[in-house]
Amino acid sequence: MNNKNILVTGASGFIGSHLCVALIEAGYNPIGVDNLSNSKAGVLEKIEQITKKKITFIQADLATPQALKECFAAQPITAVIHLAAFKAVGESTEQPLRYHSNNVIGLLNLLNSMNEFGCNKFVYSSSATVYGIPQRLPLDEEHPLASTNPYGTTKIIGESILRDVATYSDDYSCISLRYFNPAGAHSSGLLGEDIVEKPANLFPVMCRAHLTPEYQMTVFGDDYDTKDGTCIRDIIHINDLIDGHILALEKCLGENTGYQAVNLGCGKGWSVLEIIENFEKELGESINYKIGARRPGDTISSYASTDYAKKYLGWQTKHDLPSICRDTIKYMRASGAR
Ligand code: WQD
Repeated sequence: MNNKNILVTGASGFIGSHLCVALIEAGYNPIGVDNLSNSKAGVLEKIEQITKKKITFIQADLATPQALKECFAAQPITAVIHLAAFKAVGESTEQPLRYHSNNVIGLLNLLNSMNEFGCNKFVYSSSATVYGIPQRLPLDEEHPLASTNPYGTTKIIGESILRDVATYSDDYSCISLRYFNPAGAHSSGLLGEDIVEKPANLFPVMCRAHLTPEYQMTVFGDDYDTKDGTCIRDIIHINDLIDGHILALEKCLGENTGYQAVNLGCGKGWSVLEIIENFEKELGESINYKIGARRPGDTISSYASTDYAKKYLGWQTKHDLPSICRDTIKYMRASGAR
């Protein structure tokens, strides 16, 4: 039991809540920070129900440096895992300034507070979106970075800031984790991705289509140059994603890593129609969908090279697509989302 305080921003979100459970189970003490703009405080009770531990939680916005400073002053923070950010590609094209203000200024406020209190261990939630339109596949960490939307730009800027801070400091450890497409849910059925009224991402949309008979899902385009005309994505179970975070944290705590970027993906691409078929098979029912127009900003195909994650973190995925679908369905039914 090491009880090291780990600051988790975005702690009440889909990824943050699963991470807090895993940190507690690994013997760490997560200090959760979230402004609850995109999540609910009720998640904290679920974390307590699973771990039998009440986590320290501060409702604060990274836009207000004072709240952050108080957080660092209240207890020694060994490391930070920074997840809090706006992350909807489409929305970012409608609100670029709001995305840059939230994602970039929030990161800078966090780094300045860390600097003031001598905290130099950082794990950053980045995204495969930083690769832009793939020039080669699978996507490896050396692939050029380019953005096709403001969300991706904020992640490229964030990585650039962190690379400079780590490179020009002699004792800074920072690992950027480039997520592919996280999905699934905690095995207890108590935690999962919120199925909101108007979801954007594929898995919550399939859940919404199942739960709301009058809601017809749209498959955004079937005229791409792929096996069945629909886009290809690398779907990774949330449990595998979280394991990658724990290994990255331990890497940062164990040595001076400088700046590293690591893909978190399963290394395989499924088409949207294949994903729907897998989901329907586990659901035991069909999903009400139609083929519609392409969605602006979508890349045709995106899936990870997993070589570096395996070599550097000793990490690889353990869950397949059927299990991701099963766990999503279990959470959907347990949460009684309507
Ligand atoms: C997946 C595929 C859609 C909804 C996003 C963002 C970002 C990142 C990962 C963190 C695409 C298709 C979807 C629908 C559809 N997260 N689709 N109908 O865009 O690959 O990546 O998640 O960094 O949030 O980049 O994920 O789930 O929105 O779409 O046909 O109603 O499913 O066209 O091909 P995306 P997604």
